[in-house]
Amino acid sequence: MNLEELKNISDCRLYEDIDLARFTTIRIHVKGSLVSISTIEALKKVILLLKKNNVRYHIVGLGANQVLINTKDVLFIKLDFSFNEEDITIKKLYFPASVTLARLSKLAKRMHLGGWEIFTGIPASLGGAIAMNAGTRLGEMKDLVKKVDVLTADGDLKTIEGEYLKFSYRNNLFLNAGDIIVGAELSFKEIDENIDKKIDEYLLYRSKTQPLSSKNCGCVFKNPSPLIPAGKVIDELGLKGEEYKGLKISEVHGNFIENIHDASALDFYDFVHEIKRIVKEKRGIEFEFEVKLI
Ligand code: EPU
Repeated sequence: MNLEELKNISDCRLYEDIDLARFTTIRIHVKGSLVSISTIEALKKVILLLKKNNVRYHIVGLGANQVLINTKDVLFIKLDFSFNEEDITIKKLYFPASVTLARLSKLAKRMHLGGWEIFTGIPASLGGAIAMNAGTRLGEMKDLVKKVDVLTADGDLKTIEGEYLKFSYRNNLFLNAGDIIVGAELSFKEIDENIDKKIDEYLLYRSKTQPLSSKNCGCVFKNPSPLIPAGKVIDELGLKGEEYKGLKISEVHGNFIENIHDASALDFYDFVHEIKRIVKEKRGIEFEFEVKLI
């Protein structure tokens, strides 16, 4: 993969053959190339160049919910768009895709944006959270998204809204292969003077029920149904605390796998497939991955 031409595009920075661990929350060491891009114009130029050269790309977002495995023929893209918080008003809550949900939670507290408590503690960028319809038991991204701006794989900008803006559990139904979310307008439910309290209480709940300080990728499996949480199934099978090479099923929550000692991406791949196999054998349930194995 020859990435020389990328170096001539302004507003982007290329890192070739580096350790990508710091771009994912599970911090697995794996070598690959990444370009950080700070404007939509630059992103468009990069995408068209990659298309011309037949290079696959993948947006890393905040790097949660993904484990990078086959990094050789892929260029990773990190969006780093800036925006001015002063320009945000209750009438137009428009943000670039790269803003973190943590920053939006702070804004929710300042502007008393009821409904935004669903962002609490989700380690994601806005674009990533919309693409996978991230959620907690308080709700899902779909409840708050009004319009999404997308750069297509052909380099065209389009806005998705209304009946076209459809989601499913932990997925969207409007992005095509190669599409990149570049920004979104959000809505809120009502002005809520108690939002601070709701966010803080929820953060406390999460800190007690999830291993927030370890290196992990969030929930590994989708819940087969709201009544069958994957973490509970793993717990009931007595698998919490099980270790494999540098990995461990969290003692706190069965659907989290912690990187406790320099695990490799292939170890992760093997371990999660083994857990999937055991669950199928012992409980007859076919787990699906929530984490993206890239
Ligand atoms: N449970 C157990 N043992 C465990 C884990 C959970 O018995 O080891 C039980 C809990 O006691 C509870 C039920 O399972 O009765 C559900 O657990 P929890 O409230 O932790 O929620 P979850 O369904 O496991 C979902 C999301 C999380 C999100 C939490 C909190 C999925 C796959 N997971 O987890 O999202 O943080 O709700 O709102 O939908 C993620 O998307 O990466 C993620 C972690």
